[in-house]
Amino acid sequence: MLKLDVKYDVLELRNRGYSMSEEDSIIARNLRKIYSTYLRKGLIKRERQEVHALKGVSFSVKRGEVFGLLGPNGAGKTTTVKILSTLLLPDGGEARILGFDVVKDASKVRKLIGVSLTVEKGFFWKLTGRENLTYFGMLYGLDGQELRASVQQCLELVGLTSLGVADKLYEEYSLGMKARLSIARALITDPEVLILDEPTLGLDPPSARTLRELLVELAHKKGKTVLVTTHNMFEAEILCDRVAIINEGKIVALDEVEKLKRRLAGKVSLEIIAAPPAKVPVTSLIETVRSLIGAPSKAFPENGLVRLKVVQPLERVEETTSRVLDILHRKGCKIRRVEVKEPNLEDVFIHLTGRKGF
Ligand SMILES: Nc1ncnc2c1ncn2[C@@H]1O[C@H](COP(=O)(O)OP(=O)(O)OP(=O)(O)O)[C@@H](O)[C@H]1O
Ligand SMILES: [Mg+2]
Repeated sequence: MLKLDVKYDVLELRNRGYSMSEEDSIIARNLRKIYSTYLRKGLIKRERQEVHALKGVSFSVKRGEVFGLLGPNGAGKTTTVKILSTLLLPDGGEARILGFDVVKDASKVRKLIGVSLTVEKGFFWKLTGRENLTYFGMLYGLDGQELRASVQQCLELVGLTSLGVADKLYEEYSLGMKARLSIARALITDPEVLILDEPTLGLDPPSARTLRELLVELAHKKGKTVLVTTHNMFEAEILCDRVAIINEGKIVALDEVEKLKRRLAGKVSLEIIAAPPAKVPVTSLIETVRSLIGAPSKAFPENGLVRLKVVQPLERVEETTSRVLDILHRKGCKIRRVEVKEPNLEDVFIHLTGRKGF
């Protein structure tokens, strides 16, 4: 694959008075973003509202690293990646990609990054996947044999050729195929930095695994810098070298996954799966149970069942288990499974945020 003409020159950056570690490819410093929206109050009346989506987000990503931005819905993940991709202006703070400022040097930054966002725009419905990629390759300055080879390579990397759909119209693509094409577009110029918003959303489990393997290979073997967002803790745990947990516009923890898990030394995770009675809505049951437990906990509706997790010290697990089972019984639930496990990243998140709801 080709190399871009914009080179990341640490010496040049130092000469310009900017200090950075040779290894930091992405730097976000105290990023802030406020969205102004209107809240409807009846048919005509509306009220102006400010949403503080980012309240001072800072992190840096090293070359050759897969870095995960992990957080629940509305935490600020997409807002952060849009700012880093030059698609949105921050209201405060600064961000640099390979030393270039995402606001002042936006056009240079655009040449250095490959971006894939969750809500994809810009693909042509009446062109095939291959034609779409060829179009974007041309837009990025590729042509001739180099362009054809790069398009073919990217189609193969994301598995669109093995699915036999590279030459099918985009409008006929399934969600997963569209997600793959979006990743292929991000890869087309062989960029040094990849910024991917929920890259595995819409992919079936084997395809998600293949994509994760590809991302790890790009980072660890080819020295690319990969920033991904996800709310899938399992994914973050197996994919990312380091993770920043973002909640309500703030980074609440940032470390290697193993080190984050070590913060819960001496604690265990109690997981209970229960089937609520037919007439009880899962959401109201979750709220009631959580309000009665008190300990950091989280509940998830799963295929009509409730998965409840409580993080607590090992010595309290017996007492908590019998309390929770008692509450669930009184609510008429049938218990399907009770397990006590070593904490995982999901438990770190529950412990740090103690967030309500599911
Ligand atoms: N264009 C917009 N106008 C107003 N508010 C917005 C806009 N985009 C995002 N927000 C708000 O900013 C906050 C952060 O949103 P963001 O999309 O960054 O979250 P996220 O972490 O990507 O969530 P998700 O996991 O659901 O994708 C949310 O409160 C959201 O409602
Ligand atoms: Mg998002």
